[in-house]
Amino acid sequence: MLAATLALGALAGSAIATPSLTSPVDAMNLFSKRISSGCSTSGSASCHNTTKQTDLCCFESPGGLLLQTQFWDTDPSTGPSNSWTIHGLWPDNCDGTFTENCDSSRDYTDIADLLTNQGASDTLSYMKEFWVDINGQNEQFWEHEWSTHGTCYSTLKTSCLPSGSAKGAEAVAFFQTVVKLFKTLPTYEWLADAGITPDSSKTYTLTTLTNALKSASGVTPALNCDGSSLNAIEWYFNLKGSVIDGDFVAIDAPSKGSCGSSGIKYPPKSGGTSTTTSGGSSPTGGSGSLPSKGTIHASTTGGLLTGGTWSVQTLATYTFSGTSSSFTMSTSKGNCGVSSGQLTCGSGVSATKFSAVTSGSNLLLAVSGSTSFSSDATPSGTTQETVFTGTSHSKSYTLQIVSS
Ligand SMILES: *[C@@H]1O[C@H](CO)[C@@H](O)[C@H](O)[C@H]1NC(C)=O
Repeated sequence: MLAATLALGALAGSAIATPSLTSPVDAMNLFSKRISSGCSTSGSASCHNTTKQTDLCCFESPGGLLLQTQFWDTDPSTGPSNSWTIHGLWPDNCDGTFTENCDSSRDYTDIADLLTNQGASDTLSYMKEFWVDINGQNEQFWEHEWSTHGTCYSTLKTSCLPSGSAKGAEAVAFFQTVVKLFKTLPTYEWLADAGITPDSSKTYTLTTLTNALKSASGVTPALNCDGSSLNAIEWYFNLKGSVIDGDFVAIDAPSKGSCGSSGIKYPPKSGGTSTTTSGGSSPTGGSGSLPSKGTIHASTTGGLLTGGTWSVQTLATYTFSGTSSSFTMSTSKGNCGVSSGQLTCGSGVSATKFSAVTSGSNLLLAVSGSTSFSSDATPSGTTQETVFTGTSHSKSYTLQIVSS
């Protein structure tokens, strides 16, 4: 059953298969502000202990079968047209039964404030884009996910926290962990890499879909359908250590989901019609039209300077020419282009064709249909970070075009 160890953060966007349990990187140190559990991650994975575990702050029990659930919502469409969105992280018991609503004294309200006040505004901005409610009630959705599922984790009990932790620190850690784990599970990209992109005129067999996801991730997820349309996925894990900063061990889904074996539709999200290209979908701009000049803001903090680097300094003015489905852009330094996955603007740079994807009221920059960008670190002060396409560097974000 143990298929792969997922060291959070270290493997974002890349294949997660490793043949056996490896010694994981302490990737949680990448967070600017996070509490630490002090738990070892070298013991048994949850649901795999052979003796009774006594320290349930460092061993998740009874809910040791963890599901990272994602939505593909098309009616109405929710979230970016080229990404699945977060539903939650649920603790099932090892036999697949589960409990919910475990501690009403910790049913926190105002999750957004809690995250902001405890130094997790980067997590919050990511959630606003990728952990979105189908009816726009994000705050209620986050509160529900915490109170229904989050309060059931043994490793997130208040008594497990470092002394002096702020009220709600375990909920902040929960949201940070879910976001970090979700970034390692790019379902859209994994399907697109196998040539499977949303298309209202195609159907797939369950085997085609699960094989594509298994070859990218190393494990088989459970796929759920609404009628014959794909609309949710469950990625399964056991856990070594604490939900706060433990290692998620990817495993095969214990049973298949609700999709039938064939005739499965993968409908496009509206507000960005998808055209199939070899590199994935290239959604057109929908309602948001491309300005002729603007700045480019990162979803977490700061934005782009004249050379195409990421910084928190004053943002550069970008000039856009073309339409939202295909355009070039430049700064005072010169044309902008992507070469070897790296964005630069300067003289002698050959211009890349970019596209823009509408996400809510935002217009997101895309390369080959993907709106994911990442860097090795979050900039501060006068530092500048190289911008890479995709999610393979530790800090992932999207880039929003803002008209000036
Ligand atoms: C594993 O540890 C949990 C928590 O102490 C316990 O309930 C369970 O019985 C243990 N499993 C085995 C096989 O000892």
